[in-house]
Amino acid sequence: MSELISHSGAQSHELEDAIRAARARINDAPTELGSDDELNAELDLWAQCELGRWMLVNQGWDAFWTRYCISYPDRVAAGEAEPDNEAERFFLSRSVQVVATQQRFRHFSRLLAKYVRPGSSALSVPCGVMDDLLLTPGAAGARWLVGADLDPRSIQLAAENARDQGLTDKVVLVEADAWSLDQPTAISGDAAAFAELCATGFDVVTSNGLNIYVPDDDEVIRLYQSWRNLTKRGGHLIVSALTPMPDWDLATVDPDDLLRTKRLSFINDVKWANPRTADCTVEQLQSAGFEVVETHYDAARAFPTFLAVAV
Ligand SMILES: C[S@@+](CC[C@H](N)C(=O)[O-])C[C@H]1O[C@@H](n2cnc3c(N)ncnc32)[C@H](O)[C@@H]1O
Repeated sequence: MSELISHSGAQSHELEDAIRAARARINDAPTELGSDDELNAELDLWAQCELGRWMLVNQGWDAFWTRYCISYPDRVAAGEAEPDNEAERFFLSRSVQVVATQQRFRHFSRLLAKYVRPGSSALSVPCGVMDDLLLTPGAAGARWLVGADLDPRSIQLAAENARDQGLTDKVVLVEADAWSLDQPTAISGDAAAFAELCATGFDVVTSNGLNIYVPDDDEVIRLYQSWRNLTKRGGHLIVSALTPMPDWDLATVDPDDLLRTKRLSFINDVKWANPRTADCTVEQLQSAGFEVVETHYDAARAFPTFLAVAV
């Protein structure tokens, strides 16, 4: 790929252009989403919060906003005030895919707590702020925690996170495209250890939030193959993938929430709209040399977590 696919990065449009494009989309919106007036009112409200403005311009999440959205329930439970903007409050607490990724994070946390064992080596790709590995209970006992991401800003946030957790001595941060981690543009930490890990393989590889930005199935399989090459035989991959709406368990979703979720996805024109059935992901992983041994679902079955073994 060799390009940022989750957000626009330095290429981002101006906000006014993004809002103009959203208004043009609304002119041609499917009627099931509601009237143009309703959609324009939603857009106006959404554009009043920073998250909304960022998503309109970038059509996805970078490391910062991924953490912002995923950690929302924990922050509110810890006493942080809910946002004033009602659209943002809805998005963070009721929008289907956002709630699904918050629940998914808990599945990842449970699995990583089990598989990041004393002396083990783990890779997070794309790492974002790297909360998955840096907050896992086994982090202090692991030998190497490696985070890889193409966005230098993610690498910077992950480095700060590692410092805050007192884990800098065992963390290696690699600025690289996820399809070709062996050709990094920058490495901070022990580069020789990273080279050796690329040769011998990691015990655990974890990945959330990249395959969902890839429309082409062959590209996804190539991504999984590149990770298989970096996983020891018998090692584990923990990976998520969005499922198509017909596969969701709509009995668990309020119809108004579903409609508003669809409206906001449409308004943002999100780039992560590349769902695959769970069976498709199992097959793609299999063709890349992984056997899926467990699948863990969020309540709506929108964003399953797959535990796979490298065979
Ligand atoms: C939705 S975030 C997920 C981050 C992290 N996995 C998490 O769950 O918090 C997507 C991440 O993918 C990174 N990214 C986008 N395109 C990439 C590419 N081609 N190679 C590596 N990382 C990429 C972004 O910089 C961003 O940190």
